[in-house]
Amino acid sequence: MNLFHVDESRCERCGSCAAVCPMGIIEWQDRETMPQPADTAARLCINCGHCLAVCPHGALELAAMPLEECPKITPGAAADFASLSALVRSRRSTRVYLDRPVEKDDIAACIDTTRYAPTGKNTQLLHWLVIQGRERLDPLVDHCVDWMRDMVAKKHPVARQFGLEGVIAARDAGADPVLRSAPCLVVVSGPRSYPGASVDAVIALASFELAAASRGLGACWAGFFHIACSMWPPLIEALRLPEGHAPGFSMMLGHPKFRCKRIPLRKEARVSWRI
Ligand SMILES: Cc1cc2nc3c(=O)[nH]c(=O)nc-3n(C[C@H](O)[C@H](O)[C@H](O)COP(=O)(O)O)c2cc1C
Repeated sequence: MNLFHVDESRCERCGSCAAVCPMGIIEWQDRETMPQPADTAARLCINCGHCLAVCPHGALELAAMPLEECPKITPGAAADFASLSALVRSRRSTRVYLDRPVEKDDIAACIDTTRYAPTGKNTQLLHWLVIQGRERLDPLVDHCVDWMRDMVAKKHPVARQFGLEGVIAARDAGADPVLRSAPCLVVVSGPRSYPGASVDAVIALASFELAAASRGLGACWAGFFHIACSMWPPLIEALRLPEGHAPGFSMMLGHPKFRCKRIPLRKEARVSWRI
């Protein structure tokens, strides 16, 4: 098969595949012409699969995506606005966790869902590192706190900005103010050579956080950890990321000790309508 194959007996030449192709590499003129790949198609195709996703007749198949492996969408099966809104509004950052590991199947299911989050040019270059167990996480927290001590010693502006002396004092008193004693940490990384890696990672983790909440898990964006990653080589080395990767962002994960009973207030959205 070339880049894609059109089943002529099924294709009704509606042109929807050509209309949705983000790269404009499907040639189609009118109801008399079959869609076909442009000369540049093999080079430019980003394998997003929109052509086969939108075809109303199941007539188009990408070489890289056999149709029978692309599930049909059942109308009404996706979350409606009310349930999605309830999930987004009731999700909270979790900072107090049960001393209990997170089941691998739960984490894998959440990661599997995030594969469908958008990535720049559909590059899908992210890597997930799941670290479970305090014996693995405590040394990472200590690296973070070493970075904080360094910032304080150098009177670096972030020391005051983030109140690092207080964070260090909490660690010295035996607490974990960096990862909140979470049993699990998820680090999403991407190639340093790919400029969209950090945005892709944040988008993926935003989906992951919602997926985790829908399964009764609690998560929290690991901001201190992330800043330390960007400034403290010993922490990066300890993470042992794939060659050439930099962390995009990281998230704590675990079973919440407390369940929220109410939704706290948030500011009104600031919107400029030009409609
Ligand atoms: C980019 C980012 C970094 C964050 N870093 C931390 C962190 O290091 N530690 C922490 O306890 N919470 C962290 N948070 C959680 C925020 O404090 C939290 O989202 C905010 O207070 C709103 O609460 P909510 O998430 O429960 O709605 C972070 C959130 C974001 C979006």
